Amino acid sequence: MKKKVLLMGASGSGKTSMRSLIFSNNPASLTARLGATIDVEQNHVRFLGDLVLNLWDCGGQDAFMDSYLTTQKSTIFQQVGVMIYVFDVETREVGKDLEYYRDCLAGLKQFSPDAAIFLLVHKMDLVREPRQPTFDKKKQELQEASGDAEISVFGTSIYDESLYRAWSNIVHTLIPNASILSRHLATFAAACNATEVVLFERTTFLVIATSSSNSASLSETSSGIAELDSKRYERTSELIKAFKHSCSRIREEFRSLELELYDFTAVLDEMTRNTYVMIIVHDPTIEVAALKLNIRLARRKFE
Ligand code: GTP
Repeated sequence: MKKKVLLMGASGSGKTSMRSLIFSNNPASLTARLGATIDVEQNHVRFLGDLVLNLWDCGGQDAFMDSYLTTQKSTIFQQVGVMIYVFDVETREVGKDLEYYRDCLAGLKQFSPDAAIFLLVHKMDLVREPRQPTFDKKKQELQEASGDAEISVFGTSIYDESLYRAWSNIVHTLIPNASILSRHLATFAAACNATEVVLFERTTFLVIATSSSNSASLSETSSGIAELDSKRYERTSELIKAFKHSCSRIREEFRSLELELYDFTAVLDEMTRNTYVMIIVHDPTIEVAALKLNIRLARRKFE
């Protein structure tokens, strides 16, 4: 099952940087060395089981944009599962940016009317605090430019976890059986007496599914109520990616992680060929070894 993902936006808005961060194990500091993308760079990323992401990174220089919107229009916009349009929050060419965006939207409507649309207000790290008003204003502007198209807008930066939050949402729309996975994870969490179980994709460490229902920031545990940070998923993705990068620098391969802290235990281990699972337990009587055994026993079910 192949899903086409279009990555579009003006030249220098940060498309190739985010692709290299999410899909390769590169740190943000290396992105300054990336050259401009010439025409379209296509990548196939085997994501989950037989789900392959076919990522089209479309170089954003005007000459390329013009050709996507004319001679290449049907090739670019047909069979798209998701279009991600990246806006540099600091750009001086807002008008031109929006004009190209509207043209792309029209192309998408013509050739892939069912595609999901994600708009990223990128390089948010460059905005002075407080950032929320700038983001809200930009979001409003993008909503107006989108007319009746259904869009999701995220503020992102390659220097913090916000990029992982946006991309986890993006890939989530492409996973056909996400709700079934969530249900299995909830059963698994109950079997482990866990506060929460989270499933990550192996190379990107994006969140595929969690045992808790969306937006639950409070969770009942056997030892009472534990308050969970609403940014915990994307923070974990970012931390593990950084840790994997450190491992690779000393020529070690990341395999698994166990943390036993004062008030909780965390185990992160391979679940299937393409996924990692993380179990969070707030019950001090549950041994790490028991959790690892449970993961081993659950593997066949999830493969
Ligand atoms: P084309 O290939 O020409 O279409 O450009 P692109 O959109 O792929 O831009 P690219 O990824 O090459 O990024 C351009 C510059 O923006 C690089 O120097 C990156 O380091 C920088 N950049 C990317 N993301 C961010 C971000 O979140 N914050 C900041 N401050 N800089 C960023």
